[in-house]
Amino acid sequence: MTDDIFAEAPADLVQPDRVAGRLYTDPAIFEQEMTKIFERTWVWVAHESELPKPGTFKSTYVGRQPVIVSRDRKGNLHTLLNRCRHRGASLCEKPRGQANGFTCPYHAWSYGLDGTLRGIPYPDGYEGVVDKKDLSLRKLRTESYGGMVFATFAGDIEPLADFLGDAKLWLDRFMKQGGGYPVKVLGRHQFRFRGNWKIQLENTTDGYHFPIVHRSWMASVDAETADMMSFMTDPAAITHALGNGHSVMQMVPEHSDLDADDGTEPLQARFDHVVAELSKTLDDGQVRKLVRAMHGTGFNLNLFPNVSMSAAFFRVLRPIAVDETLIEHIAIGPDGPPELDVVNRERMRIHEHFQGPFGFGTPDDAEGWDRVQRGAQAAPEMPILVNRGLGREKDDEHGWPTSHVTDEAGMRAAYSQWKQMMSDD
Ligand code: FES
Ligand SMILES: [Fe+2]
Repeated sequence: MTDDIFAEAPADLVQPDRVAGRLYTDPAIFEQEMTKIFERTWVWVAHESELPKPGTFKSTYVGRQPVIVSRDRKGNLHTLLNRCRHRGASLCEKPRGQANGFTCPYHAWSYGLDGTLRGIPYPDGYEGVVDKKDLSLRKLRTESYGGMVFATFAGDIEPLADFLGDAKLWLDRFMKQGGGYPVKVLGRHQFRFRGNWKIQLENTTDGYHFPIVHRSWMASVDAETADMMSFMTDPAAITHALGNGHSVMQMVPEHSDLDADDGTEPLQARFDHVVAELSKTLDDGQVRKLVRAMHGTGFNLNLFPNVSMSAAFFRVLRPIAVDETLIEHIAIGPDGPPELDVVNRERMRIHEHFQGPFGFGTPDDAEGWDRVQRGAQAAPEMPILVNRGLGREKDDEHGWPTSHVTDEAGMRAAYSQWKQMMSDD
């Protein structure tokens, strides 16, 4: 093996059934990913409910580049490079807030919500030197679909709706967990793990690990919930590609489309108190919709390269270094009248129970991810196998490779996109 990534084309690093261990450990590959993938595709930056009013903003990242996502006075969304045009200082370190614009803390150049340079202090030194209209903040293309906001540095790639393609259907379905109401962000937390970002990317449609890694979670929940998540031998539970590296893992197929409800499935007994509370003000149909959506939609949607939608939350990944990744878990729930507080309280408890920092699920996942990195570093020349289910994989009616929910079809889809993007000059 050689340390020179150029000695092997990226195409050789990814085979249909395996990928090179160096994909997790090689800093040169990581550097290329940051430009060839994260600066060349649509990267998730926000949910519209995080920017509800004119002047609201959040600061985040596209790959390793700090950006501000803002809503201007007219309600338009902008993604601005968080870098002053004077001498480069970051403008905004607040994670979220509301403002009339952004003023650089270094020499107080001030910018509008759309990135236009508005003011320069002591402007006499700049007479004949600077024209403010040439010094707006660098702006990324910003588009949203179904409330999900994405940005890209690439001016020439396809519109977001085309990039999402068949994933749009699943995004629409995921949002039905509002139970007839729009979905809003309820809260969030972040953590880092000592591993490569693709280890997380793989995990979202890895049904194989579920009964193993999440044994302690399975043992901690009621029998109805454990039964719902016992999909290992359910032939109707499948994972399939959606194009452009996206994939969907359908663990509870009867919940994939929450509108398709024949009314026979009993509501879980654990939610009896929620039903009692909601029934004071809502009719039976509305109550059923909200309670049936309590665990989410029974599938995980993985959108290449940085966001997944699972249960009642979004999982956002941010690559920090070849062996370090930041994860943000963003809990969601219906955005409706105060009567729904009981629903959102219950959803938060479910979310914390699995995904929370003291939860029974994610800490076990994160241990697995750390171990993958440690093991891969021990022998980067050995391949990572992504061949589970290759013998039974078939194209579905839309031509997407489809296999059992425990198979590695989602990973193969993501690596095929990786290979294509990394091979582009
Ligand atoms: S670096 Fe921003 S005003 Fe000087
Ligand atoms: Fe997991």
